[in-house]
Amino acid sequence: MRPIATPTLRLEPLTAGHAREMFRVLSDPAIYAFENEPPVSEEALARRYAMLERRASPDGREAWLNWVIRLPGGELAGYVQATVLASGAAYVAYELASRFWRRGIGSAAVAAMLGELREHHRASLFVAVLKARNVRSVGLLRKLGFGPASAEQCAAFGAEADELTMVRPAAAGTARA
Ligand SMILES: CC(C)(COP(=O)(O)OP(=O)(O)OC[C@H]1O[C@@H](n2cnc3c(N)ncnc32)[C@H](O)[C@@H]1OP(=O)(O)O)[C@@H](O)C(=O)NCCC(=O)NCCS
Repeated sequence: MRPIATPTLRLEPLTAGHAREMFRVLSDPAIYAFENEPPVSEEALARRYAMLERRASPDGREAWLNWVIRLPGGELAGYVQATVLASGAAYVAYELASRFWRRGIGSAAVAAMLGELREHHRASLFVAVLKARNVRSVGLLRKLGFGPASAEQCAAFGAEADELTMVRPAAAGTARA
């Protein structure tokens, strides 16, 4: 796993050393309007990040890849995340503090991660499972060329009743630049 540089941001492999800055970023309640909750403490986040530095599930079958999003000014905006299965399916997720929303940062960061997953982590299908009401996340995924999963894929990727599954073949381009 390596850093990824784009013209507008840098993705750094997540380490326990990011916990202090990320605790502040992730303490924004707006992030959790649809799911999840903020970290309970900086220490708990550091422990979780230390575990994630293994970059793999405990059984070694899945790659667990996390990058923080560093902006040109030096501040962190959030993170992007992927779980890559042996089948080549890669679940993706992302969270940014709300003061950074709607500036193209989320889509640029996720697009950079998708390229890296395809080129260096053998991903063949990108998968997102998200709350159906999360219009911001649906918009980001549509912008990057994701579309609705088939019924078979929905069952395989484990969406709950209030969730959508969206997919994109790794070889496909984005819907719009
Ligand atoms: C989802 C999230 C990452 C989007 O990040 P972002 O940096 O605002 O996204 P972008 O600015 O790149 O926007 C990408 C597209 O998403 C859509 N979008 C973003 N915010 C939107 C909003 N408020 N309403 C409608 N569409 C929206 C738009 O289509 C946008 O493209 P456009 O600006 O070219 O029209 C951010 O809102 C977030 O962190 N939310 C909280 C965490 C979360 O829900 N994570 C996803 C869990 S599945």
